[in-house]
Amino acid sequence: MKIVGISCSPRKGKSTFYALETCLQATKEADPKIETTLIELSGMKISGCIACGKCTKVLECSQEDDFPKMIPILSDPELAGLVVATPVYFGSMTSQCKALLDRCVMFRRNGFLLRNKVGGVIAVGGARNGGQELAIQAVQAAMLVQDMVVVSEGQPTSHYGATLWSGHPDGIEKDTFGLETARSLGRRVAEVTAKIHG
Ligand SMILES: Cc1cc2nc3c(=O)[nH]c(=O)nc-3n(C[C@H](O)[C@H](O)[C@H](O)COP(=O)(O)O)c2cc1C
Repeated sequence: MKIVGISCSPRKGKSTFYALETCLQATKEADPKIETTLIELSGMKISGCIACGKCTKVLECSQEDDFPKMIPILSDPELAGLVVATPVYFGSMTSQCKALLDRCVMFRRNGFLLRNKVGGVIAVGGARNGGQELAIQAVQAAMLVQDMVVVSEGQPTSHYGATLWSGHPDGIEKDTFGLETARSLGRRVAEVTAKIHG
């Protein structure tokens, strides 16, 4: 069982990476049979979908950027779940995240390859309440149209996903509440993954 986490921050190794790493660590601890991989979009060039229609016929993209590297990872039959982590930009996901999700239309068009994969979402904002839940819901909407199984961050809070605050005066490492939602999301992803794919 493989879980792939994708950090959609344009900044490598920053707060969104930290939040995702925390989440995936909890996934592995909850179920050692799960293998996790963390991918950062930072440094990758993934343009928006140009609606050329090529992927309506074949699992290929006409654009020559870094997205084709993601195709074997996301169409791997052993993939059991996906955790998407995004900074909050103007109350939603980053444009890097949106471009990635739009390009994933190819998996829907070629047999719903993401169907029944577990979907968890993390949003990191500069403000404690800067639109994390709005950003999460936008990502979850894209997961739903792929027939993914979207999960909350599980107990004890069980709301919309992991919501972190990078603007904490002492750094995201001190955002106790947010980090706990990242960990509980990781555990929830592991739990549902085992039920569906174990
Ligand atoms: C263009 C832009 C828009 C932003 N909009 C918001 C916002 O609406 N709400 C918020 O809480 N933070 C906002 N931020 C702050 C980022 O969400 C925050 O710095 C985040 O931690 C960045 O993640 P990173 O450290 O992984 O790059 C914005 C930052 C930028 C650059």
